Amino acid sequence: MSLRNIYLENVGQTSEMSMLLEVSHAKGVYIYDTSGKQYMDLNSGISVSNLGHSHPAIIEAIQKQSEAHLHTMVYGEHVQSSQALFAKNLLSKIDDRYNSLYYLLTGSEVVEAAMKLAKKQTNRTQIIAAKHAYHGSTQGAESLRSDESYKRAFYPLLPDIDYIVFNDLESLQLITEKTACVIIEPVQAEAGIISPTHHFLNAVQNKCKETGTLFILDEIQTGFGRTGSLFAFQKFGLAPDIICIGKAMGGGLPLSGLISSKEIMMSLAKNPALGHISTFGGHPLSCASANAALKVLENENLIETVEKKALLFVNELSNHTIIKEIRFEGLLMAVEVTKRKYLKHVVSKAIELGVLIDFFLFNRSSFRLAPPLIISEKDIKKASSILREAFNYAESLY
Ligand SMILES: Cc1ncc(COP(=O)(O)O)c(C=O)c1O
Repeated sequence: MSLRNIYLENVGQTSEMSMLLEVSHAKGVYIYDTSGKQYMDLNSGISVSNLGHSHPAIIEAIQKQSEAHLHTMVYGEHVQSSQALFAKNLLSKIDDRYNSLYYLLTGSEVVEAAMKLAKKQTNRTQIIAAKHAYHGSTQGAESLRSDESYKRAFYPLLPDIDYIVFNDLESLQLITEKTACVIIEPVQAEAGIISPTHHFLNAVQNKCKETGTLFILDEIQTGFGRTGSLFAFQKFGLAPDIICIGKAMGGGLPLSGLISSKEIMMSLAKNPALGHISTFGGHPLSCASANAALKVLENENLIETVEKKALLFVNELSNHTIIKEIRFEGLLMAVEVTKRKYLKHVVSKAIELGVLIDFFLFNRSSFRLAPPLIISEKDIKKASSILREAFNYAESLY
């Protein structure tokens, strides 16, 4: 039986349209399938592999940690050097007000914990999210999704959720003294890379301050250099109360976290204690890998290259007849085609030609470009030329 059939027969599926790429190995910006075909990865596993695949510094850190110890106890009980050192390292790179990192495992779990923390800290119940945001698939995170057609099957979900409209100042009147928190992405990713207009996030922050509401930024997709600064809140001059991080954090291993002040974070630890617990939160292997990844991000000056690389993609791709617009915030990019019907042909042709691109959850006329930040200018030109071939192909069909 082929590996593909073993997979299909035995592994739970997320849809009936899986890509079914049979991965053999991956190195740098390339993934290789079991037939030896090479694919340039312009998805980074959805903003995870910011340093590409199998970076030697990460592999070395994982090997070293695995020889010392793996899991020893549920999160929060033992002092583990990889956890302590990564937290110190990361917090030293952001404003002093952020002096606590609470470790978890996935993005959805961080969103759950952030909502619980906000309720406990404020004694309020209403949670406000933005329309067309994606914050995860667990029931709490799923409750934040505005699209009824997706979430209806899972009712009842959390009560007391309301939605503002991203970039609409009027809708901010929904934030009142009853609101526990506003949870929002600094750049709406799955909506198809929607950047905030100049004052919008500042206005959200001000309204939160005015009403005693916690301002929570979901930087799970935007963090660790993706938008051209370590975190997008730094680039936009914001001071959220809580920051949710994940995805690229673990350098390819599962790791996520909440960043806040000690004062806010202590809510989870008292009255009652153990407000949110997680067996594998801050797994030592993931923390060792995260530490190595953060050092590479800094030592290789990767963040400084992000804007230039994004502009090169824009330059190489924008002047094609089927391209309507390219929206981007650093290397978090959306390429919109003039007609929706082109999209699936562009994506499938690009993959056939060896370039991995992907769809968004909530935007049917754009494809995602989120390559590893290590991508070279030569590879950007090579990828762009293949993508243009895919554009020509889609156009030729109609
Ligand atoms: C902005 C954002 N928040 C939360 C999540 C959920 O993260 P996870 O899939 O690790 O649970 C995602 C995942 O794509 C995301 O993009």
